[in-house]
Amino acid sequence: MTLLSLPNEGDLDAIEGWLGLDEGRRLAYLASIVPRGLAIVELGSWKGKSTCWLASGSRAGRGAPVYAVDHWQGSPEHRHLFTDPAYTTFPEFAANVERFGLADIVVPVTGKTVAVAEAWDKDVGLLFIDAAHEYEAVRADFLAWSPFVVAGGGVVFHDDSADGPRRVIEEFVLHSGAWGDFAHGPFSARKVTVAGRGGTPGHPAPTGPA
Ligand SMILES: C[S@@+](CC[C@H](N)C(=O)[O-])C[C@H]1O[C@@H](n2cnc3c(N)ncnc32)[C@H](O)[C@@H]1O
Repeated sequence: MTLLSLPNEGDLDAIEGWLGLDEGRRLAYLASIVPRGLAIVELGSWKGKSTCWLASGSRAGRGAPVYAVDHWQGSPEHRHLFTDPAYTTFPEFAANVERFGLADIVVPVTGKTVAVAEAWDKDVGLLFIDAAHEYEAVRADFLAWSPFVVAGGGVVFHDDSADGPRRVIEEFVLHSGAWGDFAHGPFSARKVTVAGRGGTPGHPAPTGPA
């Protein structure tokens, strides 16, 4: 179900990347309900497709900033695409964010995802995990970043049917008691406050400063 309709969905969908149109719509909706005082964190931005969906949703909603964490050097499976070893995706990322008028709401953070988490100090209302997809990498990203997600905040895993994300979801999310309101397309969950009281269907707005 799409609860948010953006006027430029076709243009967002045309950005180079792996995110499907309905996945983009869903990210935009989840971003739109994050309170302005909380951070939206994206792990893995590539050329900014999901970043622009998240930031456009946030802009249409409550205006929470989107922190885009990437070293801009591609995941292991991307390196064969680069003929120039010095190539990075950051210029294309920045150009897309600028082209959609989102530079004031997107904060690029250059670094390795886990290293960035070690210096992180902000409450997170929505965490989107889409960096390296190997099990160890997804697990490290989830364990490093999920403690920053506030009660009522959300986590989203892209490529949730791939082995890495799927195993992390099964081992650390589904049966942990800490997460509820599970949904698909891509997989999302909401952090619960009290065991057995996981919020209501449809992912209500997370708690936090307005
Ligand atoms: C699948 S792409 C992200 C796609 C993007 N979310 C989109 O919708 O277009 C994965 C990205 O994660 C980044 N990445 C992979 N491992 C990383 C790490 N350990 N730290 C920082 N960035 C990483 C890569 O540079 C790449 O840009």
